[in-house]
Amino acid sequence: MTPKVLIPEEKIRQRVKELADEISEAFKNTPVTILSVLKGAFVFTADLIRFMNVEVEVDFVRVKSYQGNRKGKLETIYKPELNLKGRSVLIVDDILDTGESLHFLYSEILNHSPAELKTCVLLEKKRKKEVDIKPDFVGFTIPDRFVVGYGLDINDMYRGLPYIGYIEKNYEEK
Ligand code: IMP
Ligand code: MG
Repeated sequence: MTPKVLIPEEKIRQRVKELADEISEAFKNTPVTILSVLKGAFVFTADLIRFMNVEVEVDFVRVKSYQGNRKGKLETIYKPELNLKGRSVLIVDDILDTGESLHFLYSEILNHSPAELKTCVLLEKKRKKEVDIKPDFVGFTIPDRFVVGYGLDINDMYRGLPYIGYIEKNYEEK
């Protein structure tokens, strides 16, 4: 089944370029350490850093939730390798849904004593957040539905789609 187009390739490209400008401007001339959240943010990150015009270092993190009951306990299963102390750090994630994973990651990364910590998501779902988190940079606000493509998946499928799409059938989230 081919997902329907929600955000076409060209629109993503334009917006990612704008975000890169906003971010470069916000960090002025300071080198930025990008923490890309695996797996979903790898495509977005790859495009974003190529449009940025400040120095960047890239590292990866991964958060997993263990679902015993409905509310899964979050854990960082892949930690940053770079030293973040005193650095200007930007967490880059694919999508903000309940906000729990970014909220969790934010406080984890604060423990590494960065000089500055900002967050960027490509997509933010229009829904009531479970936690109080407002990303510094948001690409697109989208309806509360399950989306795929441009790095986002359902059971690891569709990450390679060049656009953001949705599937009409109901899928279990995550
Ligand atoms: P949150 O903790 O509920 O904000 O969940 C964020 C994470 O869940 C994202 O980083 C994605 O990995 C995943 N996720 C949430 N909604 C979607 C979606 O619509 N498509 C694909 N992945 C999603
Ligand atoms: Mg994710």
